[in-house]
Amino acid sequence: MTIVVTGATGHLGRHAVQALLARGVPAHQVIATGRNVDKIADLGVRVLQADYENPEQLRAAFTGADKVLFVSGSEPGKRIPQHRNVVDAAKAAGVGLLVYTSIAHADTSDLILAGEHQQTEQMILDSGLPYVFLRNSWYLENYDYRSAVEHGLFGAAGDGRISAAARADYAEAAAGALLTDDRANRTYELGGPGFTMAELAAEISQVSGRTVDYTDLSPEKYAEFLVSVGLAEQHAAVLSDADRGAAQGALETGPEDLEKLMGRPATPVSDVIRAALA
Ligand SMILES: NC(=O)c1ccc[n+]([C@@H]2O[C@H](COP(=O)([O-])OP(=O)(O)OC[C@H]3O[C@@H](n4cnc5c(N)ncnc54)[C@H](OP(=O)(O)O)[C@@H]3O)[C@@H](O)[C@H]2O)c1
Repeated sequence: MTIVVTGATGHLGRHAVQALLARGVPAHQVIATGRNVDKIADLGVRVLQADYENPEQLRAAFTGADKVLFVSGSEPGKRIPQHRNVVDAAKAAGVGLLVYTSIAHADTSDLILAGEHQQTEQMILDSGLPYVFLRNSWYLENYDYRSAVEHGLFGAAGDGRISAAARADYAEAAAGALLTDDRANRTYELGGPGFTMAELAAEISQVSGRTVDYTDLSPEKYAEFLVSVGLAEQHAAVLSDADRGAAQGALETGPEDLEKLMGRPATPVSDVIRAALA
């Protein structure tokens, strides 16, 4: 069996390769791909360059692959043509399973972030390839815990529950989906037990020993706040839109699917906060 992991030069892909090895997949059965492959020379598996903008590299990387973990690209706005190349290459290579990292509730979500995932899921469905959709909620690593301790926590998610989970947990779930054979044509809504932003502030207070308050802003004010602390306007707009949606449950999944695929409970939020503050 050969398993190809795309985006292995990034956080999630690297964790996924490590999770496959930890589950006993022999190193020679794993191929890690990315653009700047120098970053992953240390993983101990075969490495191939595969830029989502380079169909030939993608086809070469997928030839002979039984399963592909397709980590969504990190350049919003460019993802549709890039993802089209990935799906076309997987189809041409006849891969046995295409596992795609999507977003929570991709089929119904109105988040700006969801649009490209919706279209990618449809491309994969249209390809006829056996698939798994891993609809990942928020990463716990998205939050800046040091800044929260110093300046407080800001957002626009109101009382919405956010089922954030550790990146490594999503990667372990991906390994679980890749390694169980009856998982074709399934969709998983992946996340942790979740919290409201006020609960997250309380958790940060508990771990840090400092009082951290949550300030809830309107989406417009939150976008202005993000720009004021240095984010580009477009990035700020996407993040404040994610909070707008989160207030209405767009990032709430519950932990059931994640824990089922991992075979263990989700990593506690406090562990991630503690590691970030260490
Ligand atoms: N759920 C969430 O909260 C959340 C948050 C952020 C991102 N995401 C999504 O989840 C994905 C994985 O997250 P992450 O933390 O691992 O992100 P990351 O560390 O930024 O990694 C993104 C990976 O995608 C690769 N990539 C981007 N464009 C590519 C291209 N044209 N060709 C080949 N590879 C390309 C990157 O390669 P290079 O190393 O060459 O750049 C990198 O390996 C992201 O790409 C994004 O779609 C989700």
